[in-house]
Amino acid sequence: MGADLVVVTGASGYIGSHVVSNLLSKGKNVRATVRDVNDLERVEHLKNLKIEENGSLEIVEMDLFDSKSVDSAMTGATDVIHTAAAVIVRSKNPQAKIVDPSVIGTKNVISAIEKSGTIERFVHTSSTAAIRPEKWENGVTLTAKTFASDATLEENPYGLAKYSAEMIVRDWHDNLEDSEKIKMITIHPCMVFGPPLSSRHLSGSLSVIMMLMRRELPLILPMQINIVDVRDVAEAHVRALTMGENKGRYLTVAGEMMWSDISKLLKKKYSNRKWPIRQLPYFIALIVCAFHPKVSISWAKRHLKNKLYWDATPAENDLEMKWKSLDETIIDTIPNIIDNGWE
Ligand SMILES: NC(=O)c1ccc[n+]([C@@H]2O[C@H](COP(=O)([O-])OP(=O)(O)OC[C@H]3O[C@@H](n4cnc5c(N)ncnc54)[C@H](OP(=O)(O)O)[C@@H]3O)[C@@H](O)[C@H]2O)c1
Repeated sequence: MGADLVVVTGASGYIGSHVVSNLLSKGKNVRATVRDVNDLERVEHLKNLKIEENGSLEIVEMDLFDSKSVDSAMTGATDVIHTAAAVIVRSKNPQAKIVDPSVIGTKNVISAIEKSGTIERFVHTSSTAAIRPEKWENGVTLTAKTFASDATLEENPYGLAKYSAEMIVRDWHDNLEDSEKIKMITIHPCMVFGPPLSSRHLSGSLSVIMMLMRRELPLILPMQINIVDVRDVAEAHVRALTMGENKGRYLTVAGEMMWSDISKLLKKKYSNRKWPIRQLPYFIALIVCAFHPKVSISWAKRHLKNKLYWDATPAENDLEMKWKSLDETIIDTIPNIIDNGWE
């Protein structure tokens, strides 16, 4: 890429930080966008990243809702990796808090890309949530051919946000003139684990691990979790800039484990701490979910006990991804949390 400049949106975030780290380790020029450049929790870990020869890091302020700040962040760049989104699944105002950041934010990013006239490659962070339909059969393997077009604001606002943002990207890209073609790829991670770089990273997907660490649940829900390492997700984003098919839709999924087996593995490795390991019987788990503020009975019926698999072979073939083992990913999640006293 030489003197290319890669903009990473959502750079303070869990995946965004690792994308920035990956790019800097390869000696790239990175413009990292954050919402508040003065907030140490958002920027300190970025400033501490190792920069290989010829690389550089610029941290700029950008809010997805402020189109001027988005335009300015994209000016003069050659590549964009758009990870920024609201990563929450429930809200009293799901339209404003979950859907709008993805939909309005992605529209503003696309508009800024068009205005820049310099951007050649665009990688958009989507999710398995943009693929998984509301109903799926136990044991099914989903591929990138499926779309979460039935996600609703009431039942699945996060799925709606991720699906809608991806459709905005794809519709825009389909309608570009040949002369203005920009390479576009979407990356679809499942549940992401692996080392957090800031305490802010514990509240998203890592809350599943934090619930075990903090022993928030005395008994564990009988739930299978599809897992991928954050370092592999970052690598897939960076590879997608130069590898993979234009318009590609790449699932990044390393494998799956029962939640209780994750806890058993952590208990074995970090045996000086207490970990919950007993699993709730299915019917009791349903009752617990019916009364839990963060999940619903319909979610529980779909996700508890049932097994869902994902086909990540396109990323293995086109992006030449080799996934870290699930054990390595889970074990490596913990040291930064303990060493920094984030428990
Ligand atoms: N983690 C997972 O398991 C997972 C799985 C599949 C897909 N994804 C996708 O991966 C992407 C990154 O997720 P993550 O896990 O890294 O979450 P995260 O740590 O919460 O990062 C999200 C980033 O988006 C930024 N952001 C949110 N609203 C913004 C706004 N209005 N303007 C500018 N920036 C804004 C956040 O900035 P602040 O720091 O200022 O809040 C943060 O940097 C998201 O698109 C998510 O949907 C995540």
